Amino acid sequence: MKVSPSILTCDFAHLDREMAFVQNTGADLVHLDVMDGVFVPNLSFGPPVIARLRPLTALPFDVHLMMEYPHRLIEAFAAAGADSLNVHVECASPIADTLAHIRSLGKKAAVTLKPATPAQAAFPFLDMVDMVLVMTVEPGFGGQAFMADMLPKIAALRAEITRRGLSVDIQVDGGINEQTAEQTAKAGATVAVVGNALFTAEDAPALVRRIHSL
Ligand code: DX5
Ligand code: ZN
Repeated sequence: MKVSPSILTCDFAHLDREMAFVQNTGADLVHLDVMDGVFVPNLSFGPPVIARLRPLTALPFDVHLMMEYPHRLIEAFAAAGADSLNVHVECASPIADTLAHIRSLGKKAAVTLKPATPAQAAFPFLDMVDMVLVMTVEPGFGGQAFMADMLPKIAALRAEITRRGLSVDIQVDGGINEQTAEQTAKAGATVAVVGNALFTAEDAPALVRRIHSL
């Protein structure tokens, strides 16, 4: 699996140091959690912070938009340096139009499913995306426990992607550590978002290597 560290649990007083830490783990992407206080009961950061992070690493920025109206800020996130943008299917923006807009800016597009949303909700968008993000916790906070009942959803998405002959990554986000990453890989996930487990790991590069080998 590819590894995408979520910086939500990092030390926000020292973002330059934290970005260097992420890069030194050997991770593949950086996962940036944007929260609007409406779609989820929490607030995080937006385009100005992402723009200041952009020169600190060459790793691609994967931006997870936990927003009710992400379509209003697609161009701002693209200009700030996002390489891929994840839009929740449950949000109030027009999903297909927003995905097309993301791709028209030369960025990768992804749809994201909350735990209560079935795999089938992503099916209409599978040929418009590079990735599907399956939330394995309720979005809003880092450090929660992995929901094993999301495994059949991952398997259903992988089966449909294979059936259609598409090349779409499945990313998992929430409560991912070496053990839960392995379960999701067996179900068909290809990208692991890792927050707490990475930032509290005794040997973060070793953890990344082990998840790479799954
Ligand atoms: C939750 C975020 C996740 C979270 C992952 O709303 O989308 O990216 O930060 O953190 P851990 O790995 O600690 O669950
Ligand atoms: Zn996330």
